Amino acid sequence: MSEPEIVRTNDAAQLAQSAASRLAKLIVSAETAERDFHLVLTGGGVGIQTLAALRDEAKASGMKWSHVHLWWGDERFLPEGDAERNETQAREALIDDIDIPADNVHPMPASDGTDLAEVERAATNYSAALSVAARGEGPVPEFDVCLLGLGPDAHVASLFPGLPGVREDGAAAVAVHDSPKPPPTRVSLTLSSINTARQVWVLAAGESKAEAVRLGLSGASVDEAPVAGVKGGEKTVFWLDEASASKL
Ligand code: 6PG
Repeated sequence: MSEPEIVRTNDAAQLAQSAASRLAKLIVSAETAERDFHLVLTGGGVGIQTLAALRDEAKASGMKWSHVHLWWGDERFLPEGDAERNETQAREALIDDIDIPADNVHPMPASDGTDLAEVERAATNYSAALSVAARGEGPVPEFDVCLLGLGPDAHVASLFPGLPGVREDGAAAVAVHDSPKPPPTRVSLTLSSINTARQVWVLAAGESKAEAVRLGLSGASVDEAPVAGVKGGEKTVFWLDEASASKL
């Protein structure tokens, strides 16, 4: 497995723009090759900024979306349409403005779903949806790119240091309780699902992420720094700005 690629940019805006441009190229290549493209989205500031940059790129280039499937790496377990849901923010930044078939958008369940009163059931249902999309080829479809924001505590998706989700590998998605970042109840892909992706991209901007970036790239344990456990099948990319790269 090759070393992670590190892309250094000046600031969050340039980071979002650069990541979006590379993503757009990969999406267009998949279309040219007539194959589906499975993209895993993230929440968080620079993650949503990247989606907005992708929207602008898509508008300018007229790229197609019918072969693209959108999944989520994690979700805040809140009612549908809640402004704090990662899905809501991704719809506002990107999905509402692109011509993607509704069936290709696969949000994690909301807390007000009729039969989804419990977050455990939400995680089980999402694992089932992933398995159906994988058509018997594995627990999840072949993710092309998995986007991950990074917390100052080195969490990725909703896998936090010291919480049991980090070590879970028997399921594609897990319920998360007592998240230190609000809201406390979440659904997250497991590290093993994340690491099935061809490419895993960590997006981190700002001084508050510098120590987490350092830990992620220095072989820390996943219990201390979940980001240290992410590895794309073909490539792992850390998209940084000057401030988040300042401890490397
Ligand atoms: C969430 C996220 C989470 C996020 C990081 C970074 O639901 O909160 O998916 O993993 O990506 O916490 O968020 P910021 O970029 O806003 O710091």
